[in-house]
Amino acid sequence: MENGMILSIESSCDDSSIAITDIETKKLVFHKKISQELEHAVYGGVVPELASRLHAEALPKILEECVPYFPKLKAIAVTNAPGLSVTLIEGITMAKALSVSLELPLIAVNHLKGHIYSLFIDKETVFPQTVLLVSGGHTQVVEVQGLDEMKTVASTMDDSFGESFDKVAKMMGLPYPGGPVIEKLAKEGDPKRYKFTIPLQQKKIFAFSYSGIKNAVRLAVEAGSEADYPDIAASFQEVASEHLVRKIKKYLVENPPKNFAIVGGASANLYLREKIEVMLKPYGAKLYLAELTYCSDNAAMIGRVAVEMYLNKDFTEITQLQATPRAPL
Ligand code: KG4
Ligand code: ZN
Repeated sequence: MENGMILSIESSCDDSSIAITDIETKKLVFHKKISQELEHAVYGGVVPELASRLHAEALPKILEECVPYFPKLKAIAVTNAPGLSVTLIEGITMAKALSVSLELPLIAVNHLKGHIYSLFIDKETVFPQTVLLVSGGHTQVVEVQGLDEMKTVASTMDDSFGESFDKVAKMMGLPYPGGPVIEKLAKEGDPKRYKFTIPLQQKKIFAFSYSGIKNAVRLAVEAGSEADYPDIAASFQEVASEHLVRKIKKYLVENPPKNFAIVGGASANLYLREKIEVMLKPYGAKLYLAELTYCSDNAAMIGRVAVEMYLNKDFTEITQLQATPRAPL
């Protein structure tokens, strides 16, 4: 039996978040997140220096609320990769200070593993999983057998799924993050009006690409008026999702899934969720989704990974803990 709790910190992009997770029950005891979306909205995307300054304000505020839990802590976990280096450093510096002052070991958590473990917050893990990770920074399919057995089988060649929503929103003068805004606008539009080409259709390669769709949308936006935006948004969302479905469908023929999961900020997109559900029907595979609150970046998912790493005694020396902005899974 393992008594105690882990404090985890997430600051890889524009969300400052701290969680406390009980080691034995794996339950989330405390979780708070301060999002910077409003501050970045006017710039149409995340401004790294601004993000780092906002983390420096928000993280200590959340930490104050965690003080009552300090006597119960057994380790400090922090996202160290991938992400923006200047924002990762904010969380890492706080984790190091806590580790020294409270004499606790450090656990370095990969953010992408965090998204995968967002499926298991307050729950036991279920493996194997074929995972579609769709976020602002990543679009990939990962075969997951366990914590240290994750194989990326497909990635994007250029923009990510979430990023393409952000860029389309920016083209229409709509705020960041574009995902929820475009999804909402698309509800009023006709997804069949614009015939944007589905990328990489003639190619056998299992990969994704969003730069072509983005350019086609740009031309439509420039040629149209605001009255056309709902139809453009709907047609874009249709093609962006259909591209994922067509590529994954082909892969599943050879690799039928037992369990299939969609994780990452863009997994909140209900249009995509429905398409994936239909795609999975012939396989009878169970679809796993994180709760909507845990789809976007948060420290609860980092804490859930950290519990498993703590049980494996997977600690990182303070001098070795560094921000690794481009690390893979
Ligand atoms: O996972 P996340 O919070 O941060 C990264 O690790 O990147 O994902 C944020 C991304 C943004 O690009 C945002 O526009 C996108 O997820 N997103 C969505 C939706 N909600 C968030 N994309 C499409 N549809 C949505 N409903
Ligand atoms: Zn993320």
